[in-house]
Amino acid sequence: MEKMWKGRSEVATDKLADDFNSSIGFDCKLYKQDIEGSVAHAKMLAGCGILTADECAVLVEGLQGILSDIEAGKLAFDPTAEDIHMFVEAVLTERVGDVGKKLHTARSRNDQVATDLRLYLRDESENIVALIRKLLAAIVEQANKTKTYIVPGYTHLQRAQPILFAHHLLAYAMMFIRDAGRINDAVRRMNVSPLGSCALAGTTYDTDRMYTAKLLGFDGYTLNSIDGVSDRDFCVELLSALSLVMTHLSRFAEEIILWSSWEFGFVELDDAYTTGSSIMPQKKNSDMAELVRGKTGRVYGDLIAMLTVLKGLPLAYNKDMQEDKECVFDAFETVAKCLGVFAPMVATMKANKDNMYRAASKGFINATDLADYLVGKGEPFRSAYKVSGKIVAYCIANDKVLEELSLDEFRSFDPLFDEDVYGEISLAACVQKRTSAGGTGIKSVEKQIKFVEEFIK
Ligand code: ARG
Repeated sequence: MEKMWKGRSEVATDKLADDFNSSIGFDCKLYKQDIEGSVAHAKMLAGCGILTADECAVLVEGLQGILSDIEAGKLAFDPTAEDIHMFVEAVLTERVGDVGKKLHTARSRNDQVATDLRLYLRDESENIVALIRKLLAAIVEQANKTKTYIVPGYTHLQRAQPILFAHHLLAYAMMFIRDAGRINDAVRRMNVSPLGSCALAGTTYDTDRMYTAKLLGFDGYTLNSIDGVSDRDFCVELLSALSLVMTHLSRFAEEIILWSSWEFGFVELDDAYTTGSSIMPQKKNSDMAELVRGKTGRVYGDLIAMLTVLKGLPLAYNKDMQEDKECVFDAFETVAKCLGVFAPMVATMKANKDNMYRAASKGFINATDLADYLVGKGEPFRSAYKVSGKIVAYCIANDKVLEELSLDEFRSFDPLFDEDVYGEISLAACVQKRTSAGGTGIKSVEKQIKFVEEFIK
């Protein structure tokens, strides 16, 4: 494809340099936004009397033809084009003649690419938030099914206190709701139009930036043309929000992998989301969860790559910035795939109530409640804590759990013990009594489910 900037130099660029410089191999993804931006720009030029209405009509029709031909597979991207912007303009001029050459009046590829990328990321962000909603729906579905299942809650990966499995799952729902909020925040800040900033300094033409901003669904336009073309904060913000999505997915993935091991046996993943081993017939591997955990590194890498590209970069546009796209494309694609497979994997996994309960019955996870029982009888917490600790040591030495001790045994540690101790330290009671706001009690769990359901709507 002939260079648009041929006037300045007649020497052909080296083939390797051309390939190295070209971005069409990946920025072709922006074709729709590029054409949308050009249509808005042409309309603005006509509205401001810079183009005639007839010229505008020819340009718009030509651009729409290009769009439908690309989508119908009738127009292939030319790999020798420098980028998507050059490609669309060249095809347009080829098709509509000299008037095509007028489209680039009062604009530059610098404001064009900044506009295209914002439009693209706006749609992609919406898609990610929709996928987060689907995952939240899967979590709620699982939480509703497992509302009465008691499971050990852990600290330091040691059994700590009994909780409802639904409470544990809903902790993830809270994280994903915050993730959606972060993405929406970033989109809100991003949604201003850089179009009309031109190369960096604005233009001598009497343009109307609000006009294009409105046509493209932006809330306004960037107030400083230099910032308009050189800002990629929105990429960093979105990449960082996506990195956190992956952090949360990877923690969830790790737990699902643990839970589905023989050692835990808390959940069984549906066969549709596991693989077998080529050699060990007994294996059922949680590959999807493991891959999600693994892909987290990629997305962090995309964030760091983007930050590093921007570090120390002088104003305004520099070609370094062409490196922005592959980072964000990769991150959005990766996160979309991970969320896409995670939601049905969570919705279809089977929780094993008995195994959970069995695990919760060991490890003295009601020892805190035993201490609280004594506090209820008038013992100060610190001494109650000591007594409870001594009883645990006794149980370990005698291979018993707390509920198995006789009342006499209890009383040998503290005369305040009574028959009602058994009811108070039963796992069900331990959970039910945690009625504090945000605790694992059933009312709190139901409130959380409502909150998440409200968010999904
Ligand atoms: N392909 C370029 C990019 O992605 C478009 C902007 C080029 N601008 C320029 N002055 N060379 O960043």
